[in-house]
Amino acid sequence: MASFELSSEQKEIYEMAMKFARNEMMPKANEFDESGKMPMDILTKAWELGLVNTCIAPEYGGTGFTTLDSMIITEALAYGCLGMNTTLMANDLALLPIAIAGNDEQKKRFLTPFTESYKMASFCLTEPGNGSDAAGIKTTIREDGDHYILNGQKMWITNAGYADLFVIYCTTDPSLKHKGISCIVLDDKNAEGLEIGAKERKMGHRSSDTRAVTFNNVRIPKENLIGNLGEGWKIAMKTLDHSRPMVAASAVGGAQCALDHAIKYAKERVQFNTVIANHQAIQMMVADMAMKVEAARLLVHKSAWLLDEGMPNTKLASYAKAFSADMCMEVTTDAVQVFGGYGYSNEYPVEKIMRDAKLIQIYEGTSQIQRLVIAKEIFSRS
Ligand code: CAA
Repeated sequence: MASFELSSEQKEIYEMAMKFARNEMMPKANEFDESGKMPMDILTKAWELGLVNTCIAPEYGGTGFTTLDSMIITEALAYGCLGMNTTLMANDLALLPIAIAGNDEQKKRFLTPFTESYKMASFCLTEPGNGSDAAGIKTTIREDGDHYILNGQKMWITNAGYADLFVIYCTTDPSLKHKGISCIVLDDKNAEGLEIGAKERKMGHRSSDTRAVTFNNVRIPKENLIGNLGEGWKIAMKTLDHSRPMVAASAVGGAQCALDHAIKYAKERVQFNTVIANHQAIQMMVADMAMKVEAARLLVHKSAWLLDEGMPNTKLASYAKAFSADMCMEVTTDAVQVFGGYGYSNEYPVEKIMRDAKLIQIYEGTSQIQRLVIAKEIFSRS
């Protein structure tokens, strides 16, 4: 039987994560956005509460959250700060390939340390010349005795300056496109030949750490290969099926936060001798914003529920990602509009959320790529 009601445990998880978002993240969100520094204390506290690395199964020390639980947590953390949430969420993105396709020994070796202390991980797919066309990557992998050797460069890598573990997609032959791609773990941040670039200066998500990562003949033990050579593409696609709903959940959290600020402000701000909440122009906008946030949340929950039920979710994951990212951009832009001139100033929180929203339409597959995936699912794969 269908139910839209969260369980009492899920409500508790949400309340706990929201309390953390309101008390720990929100008061510091602007400060870290301005400084661009890594809010290590806040991130560590989130980890201590069990809100990070939700993809790790209990047998490897994880919390055993369902995919839907992890959406609820992500929405709350993104409500607190989209930038800080990106840092936390990027761990799941990087650890998911191991959780999905790693063997038992690899899961123990790579995942369990993430349950013992707070660490960061990076998912290395995008390259300077290959973003949307992920199958066109050029970073190479070749065998050398007991090791593989990596050469190439990755771009826009979240957490790269702090990561203890890198999950890297590379190819034995770029002309094979997706059929040549492999997935390998580098768990030595001091490896010879590994170069981490300077922190990128970004429009939003400024506290999150984004850098280029270069591999110059980096040697990685063969036992770090996830799956077999040439199986990396399927692992990446399955990972994105899990992670795109999470990104969509973050869009819902950011939009809900902007909406709540707009509602509060509309009830306080007086124009034409009455609070602006009494003007139909504002009521129409706020009604549209609330409707869109709820519609996005339902897509997020369904795309996660499908995974929990063991069903394919590729199309729903892209529905959720595209709809929620675009919704977040619209809702946060409207929130700034409700605030008028004050909304454009960093005296109020909505301008930051609007800047943060933009990235959600870009990372983990642009809104256009999601539509491409949806169209392929409709025309070629159903
Ligand atoms: N699960 C399993 N297999 C899948 C799949 C899925 N979800 N989606 C596609 N495949 C398979 C196809 O069935 C096909 O297999 P066969 O060769 O056996 O037929 C194969 O993969 C190739 O599929 P396509 O023909 O669809 O591949 P394409 O190259 O035309 O397009 C794409 C693929 C969807 C555009 C893909 O390149 C894509 O998703 N691009 C966006 C990249 C992206 O999301 N990057 C995010 C980077 S991470 C990031 O941003 C993180 C951060 O730091 C926060």
